[in-house]
Amino acid sequence: MLPAPVLVHNRVMRYTEQSLPVGVVPAALASLNVDVVVVPAFAGEGAALSAAYDGVTGGRVSAAFESREFAGKPGTLFVTPAAGEDWRPARLMLVGVGPRAGYEPSQLRRAASAAALAAREHRWRRVAFALPAAGPSIEDAQAASEGLTLAAHYSGIYKNDPDARPIDIESLIAFQEPMSAAACEPFEKAAGRGYILAACSNLARALANEPANVMTPRAFADIATQVGIESSLKVDVLDEDRISGLGMGLLLGVARGSAEPPRMVVLRYEPARAATSAVLGLVGKGVTFDTGGISIKPSDRMHLMKTDMSGGAAVVAAMKAIAALKPDMAVVGVVPLVENMPGGRAMRPGDVVRSAEGKTVEVLDTDAEGRLILADALWYARQIGATHLVDVATLTGAIGIALGRSTTGLFGLPDWWVTLVGRTANRAGDRAWPLPLFDDYREQLRSEIADLANIGGRPAGSITAALFLSEFTGGLPWAHLDIASTAWAEEAQPWQPKGPTGVAVRTLAELAFTHGEWPSAKA
Ligand code: BES
Ligand code: MN
Ligand code: ZN
Repeated sequence: MLPAPVLVHNRVMRYTEQSLPVGVVPAALASLNVDVVVVPAFAGEGAALSAAYDGVTGGRVSAAFESREFAGKPGTLFVTPAAGEDWRPARLMLVGVGPRAGYEPSQLRRAASAAALAAREHRWRRVAFALPAAGPSIEDAQAASEGLTLAAHYSGIYKNDPDARPIDIESLIAFQEPMSAAACEPFEKAAGRGYILAACSNLARALANEPANVMTPRAFADIATQVGIESSLKVDVLDEDRISGLGMGLLLGVARGSAEPPRMVVLRYEPARAATSAVLGLVGKGVTFDTGGISIKPSDRMHLMKTDMSGGAAVVAAMKAIAALKPDMAVVGVVPLVENMPGGRAMRPGDVVRSAEGKTVEVLDTDAEGRLILADALWYARQIGATHLVDVATLTGAIGIALGRSTTGLFGLPDWWVTLVGRTANRAGDRAWPLPLFDDYREQLRSEIADLANIGGRPAGSITAALFLSEFTGGLPWAHLDIASTAWAEEAQPWQPKGPTGVAVRTLAELAFTHGEWPSAKA
C-alpha cells in the first residue's frame, strides 16, 4: 500500500473560510464610508436611477443611459466617481439585473457577484450593495448575500506570486430607502443564511479545484471528516475492508485499477427534535480522477477529470451548510470515493460484478464508472435510513449535448419529488431541467449475461445512465442531478470565473427545509 498522500487540506480549509460574512446596514446609502456603492439597475429603468444619482455623479448616470453605454443588461457594469456634500461613498457602480418583468432573486445573485468580482479586481475593498428600491424582499437579501460571497472564490491557490491573490472584500447590504434597525432584522437573518450557503458553495469549488494528486479518495475522506467534526456532524468513513464486507462489488470493481484504496464517507445530521420521520439522503459521486479505466479516455482534456468528484464535494459542502442552518429534519450524506484507473488489476470490459443489493452488472465500458459507485452508495444510503434520495454526479458527457453548459439535468421518480427538487434548484440559482425516464429506454441496458449492462449506447446517454441508477433506489422517491456540464465553467461569465461552480450545494441544503411540502413526510 502507498503511504498516505501529503495532505494540504488545512490550507484548503483556511482558504475557504476567508470570505467575510455580509453585514446589513440600515443607514442611508449616502452616509456609508465605502469604496463603492453598487445599485442594481433593471433594464429600461434609467429615469429613476438618473433622478436618484445624477446629483452625486455630475449627471453621469443619465449620460450613460442616454448614450446607451449602460442599459441594465444582466452582468453589465457602469462605474463613476461620486461626490457630494451629504454623500460619502467614493464611487457609484450600476449593475444590470435585466428586465423587471418576471424578476427572480437569482438575477440579483448574479448581479451582486458580478459587481463584487469587479470590485475585487479593482481592489475596492469596502463594497455596499443596495437592494432594489421599492420594497426589497427577504429573498433579495439572501440572494445578494450569496452573490457577494460567491465572488470570494479564487482558483489560483498554487501560484507563488503573492500579488496574484485577490483581496478579501468587506461587503455590506444596504437599502435605497430609509430603514429602521428593527425592520433590518429579517434582512440580516437572510444575509446570514446566504453567506453560509455561498461560503459552502465556495468550499465545494475549492475541493473540486484541487488536483487529483492531492485530492485522492483518502484525502477527500480526511477533509470530509474534518468538515464533519467541525460542524458537529456524525462522521463515518468506510475503508476497503468494510466496503468489501458489505459486498459493494460495483464500488470495489471501479477501485481495482488504482493504487489508491476506495473510501465511502458518511455524514449525518440528526437534530434533537425532527419535525418528520423522513430522512433526506444526499449521495454524491466521488471519482477523484476518471481516466476511463481500461476503456481509457482520449488524453485531450482528460485533466478536467479531476473534477469528477464535484457531486461528492457538493454533498459534503451541503452537509456543512445544513449543520449550520439547522433544519428540523434528519439528513444523511453519502460519498463513494474512488480513482478510476487502468492497470494490471483493473476491471476489464465484459467483467461481471455484483452490487451490494444483489443485482449483477456486466461492465461493458469501464468509463461508465460513476453509475457503478453510485449504485452501491444509493443502496447504502437506504441501509442507514434515508427515505428520500437525491444524487448529484458528473455522470455523462451527453448531458452537455442535451442541455448545454448552463443547465443541470434532472431525473427521478415520482414526479412530485422531481418537481420539488427542480423548483428548489431553480430558486437556489442552480438551474435544472427534467428529462424523461420512459420505460422504453430500459431495453438499452439489457445484458446477455447479467441483470444489467452498465451502458446503453449513445442515444439518450444521460437518460440510460439515470435509469441504471433507478435500479438501486429501492422504489424510494429519488432525484438525480447530472452536473457533468455545469460543475465546471469552461468560460468566464461576468458573475462567475472559469472553473468550479459549486453547483447543487445550495439546492441540496435548501431541500432540507422543504419537508413541509412532502406529502409522505407530513406528520
Ligand atoms: N465523468 C464522466 C462524465 C463527464 C464527462 C464528466 C465530461 C464531466 C465532463 C463519466 O464517468 C463518463 O465517462 N461517462 C461516459 C459514459 C459512457 C461511457 C456511457 C461518457 O459520458 O462518455
Ligand atoms: Mn467515466
Ligand atoms: Zn466519471
